Amino acid sequence: MKALVYHGPGQRGWDTVDDPTIIDHTDILVRIDTSTICGSDLHILKGDVPETTPGTVLGHEAVGTVQEIGADVSTVAVGDRVLLSCISACGRCRFCKESRYGQCLGGGGWIFGHLIDGLQAEYARVPFADNSVYKVPEHLSDEQVLFLSDILPTAYEVGVLNGKVSPGDVVAIIGAGPIGLAAILTAGLYTPARIVAIDLADSRLESARNFGADTTINNGRQDAVSEIMQLTDGLGADVAFEAVGIPDTFELASELIRPGGRVANIGVHGHSATLHLEKLWTRDVTITTGLVDTHTIPRLMNLVAGGRLDPRVFATHRFALEDAMTAYDTFADAASTGALKVVLEADQSTHSSDVLVAALSAE
Ligand SMILES: NC(=O)c1ccc[n+]([C@@H]2O[C@H](COP(=O)([O-])OP(=O)(O)OC[C@H]3O[C@@H](n4cnc5c(N)ncnc54)[C@H](O)[C@@H]3O)[C@@H](O)[C@H]2O)c1
Ligand SMILES: [Zn+2]
Ligand SMILES: [Zn+2]
Repeated sequence: MKALVYHGPGQRGWDTVDDPTIIDHTDILVRIDTSTICGSDLHILKGDVPETTPGTVLGHEAVGTVQEIGADVSTVAVGDRVLLSCISACGRCRFCKESRYGQCLGGGGWIFGHLIDGLQAEYARVPFADNSVYKVPEHLSDEQVLFLSDILPTAYEVGVLNGKVSPGDVVAIIGAGPIGLAAILTAGLYTPARIVAIDLADSRLESARNFGADTTINNGRQDAVSEIMQLTDGLGADVAFEAVGIPDTFELASELIRPGGRVANIGVHGHSATLHLEKLWTRDVTITTGLVDTHTIPRLMNLVAGGRLDPRVFATHRFALEDAMTAYDTFADAASTGALKVVLEADQSTHSSDVLVAALSAE
């Protein structure tokens, strides 16, 4: 089959690789119909994720069709259309039993396109299928549910739920990339009084307004703390999300929060940030951290099915799966292309692994 393969820092290829096969009884094989690229894929390509070894197929977000099921799989069948979560869940360990799938001790967690071959490919092996894939209702398109693999549950769980967004809150969202924008959409479900988006890029702030932000602040030109204080009678925001992943923006979140407020860190940090306890200790502020679990996928899918949430707004560019190399160029150059998420669509009539399909259907 063809797949997007990581070849070490700065290098990738659209290569012919071995077709995946079922290894464990809890695996399924899926034909990838629609997939996408994540900022984490770019981190791997920069060499920031050393545990990902050259030769790994990238990608951890996709919708596909089940081709074959392992002997112990009982909740999905050949032909089912399924959403693949970016987080796999063994379903048996202590953390999976608490729905903390991101912390799975049984071989799950973030493994696709990280520790095992991922989903930017014609086919994929999906471990722990009973606990890690979600059937897509017939009336929903792939694109309506695709972003429920990663960015929507990340923003919702690690931002909105950890930050306990409540009706009437002023919510400050620092970083208006795909994650910050997903936080705007899902915070909106809770009727905050005001959503404030903070970013250095005017194009991202324009997206933030389109996604439902009431106020935008360019913190390259404006003093974000004093702007927030003006909006809140000098108190500060009720909830702040850090959705960038650098020390400055974490410190900004802890400065613009009101006494008793909640700071929810979403960003992935590569460096230590300063916790200003000398200012915070009297202020009753709660700070949360988190890795996405994707335990809210069923709830988010219900919201999409009910017409309350429409993630298609993220899809700024569409490519054929075989043009994945160009899609990476477009996604990586978001500053000039305006890309939020790029959709990779497999042309099912030209899947190069016809052999695999024929072999499977003969079984
Ligand atoms: N916790 C989790 O489970 C989880 C899951 C997925 C992604 N993430 C992390 O969430 C973060 C956001 O992801 P993304 O895909 O939206 O990233 P992104 O890089 O696309 O967007 C980041 C945004 O931050 C803005 N920005 C950069 N520096 C800034 C500054 N000093 N002040 C204000 N804005 C600034 C950029 O202009 C950009 O719009 C990343 O750190 C990512 O790794 C976390
Ligand atoms: Zn991701
Ligand atoms: Zn587990």
